Amino acid sequence: MIAYGTRYGSTAEISERMGEIFTEKGMKTEVRDLKKDGTPTDLDEYDLVVVGSGILAGRWTKEPLKFLEQNKEKLAEKSVALFVVSAYAADSEKHDRVYEDYLVSVAEDLKPISPVSMGFFGGVIDFSKYNFAVRILMKRMVSSNAGDREVSEYMDLRDWEEIESWAKSLVTE
Ligand SMILES: Cc1cc2nc3c(=O)[nH]c(=O)nc-3n(C[C@H](O)[C@H](O)[C@H](O)COP(=O)(O)O)c2cc1C
Repeated sequence: MIAYGTRYGSTAEISERMGEIFTEKGMKTEVRDLKKDGTPTDLDEYDLVVVGSGILAGRWTKEPLKFLEQNKEKLAEKSVALFVVSAYAADSEKHDRVYEDYLVSVAEDLKPISPVSMGFFGGVIDFSKYNFAVRILMKRMVSSNAGDREVSEYMDLRDWEEIESWAKSLVTE
């Protein structure tokens, strides 16, 4: 199962792509939006549980965290992989620090779950999806981080090769 939380959809697209890879590799796969589809009731049927979230204001969306928290003991007995999707994942200066914040310290709080792998992927900035307040906030965030780079209202920072190879590594390992 790939279970995710998203606000603007990029994590959903990444999860769907991972699901296709799993299926291509012969695994029976379920891709689940934890907000829309709800949490699964019976975890026994899954051999591998991949849980992911988009990052907003430094935080995971609430449904995947709640799912992990509420099923800690059960998930501790399974293969669990975590991934997050964030703008700073694609920023070489910020990458290592936010990896600690968004993944390492979150995983620490989820003990006894012990992830077999953690994926950290660039996401999408898309001003056409934001309301007025979020646009102002994001304008500030994007321009203060852009340095000399050009600022655009649509940036797809996803590295599909990286995403696909992570998904493949989960199947083979
Ligand atoms: C309001 C808002 C706040 C964000 N805050 C962060 C942040 O703190 N750190 C970060 O790396 N990316 C941040 N981002 C970028 C998102 O992580 C990125 O857009 C991601 O693709 C969102 O995932 P989703 O499309 O699945 O919701 C933010 C985006 C928005 C719209």
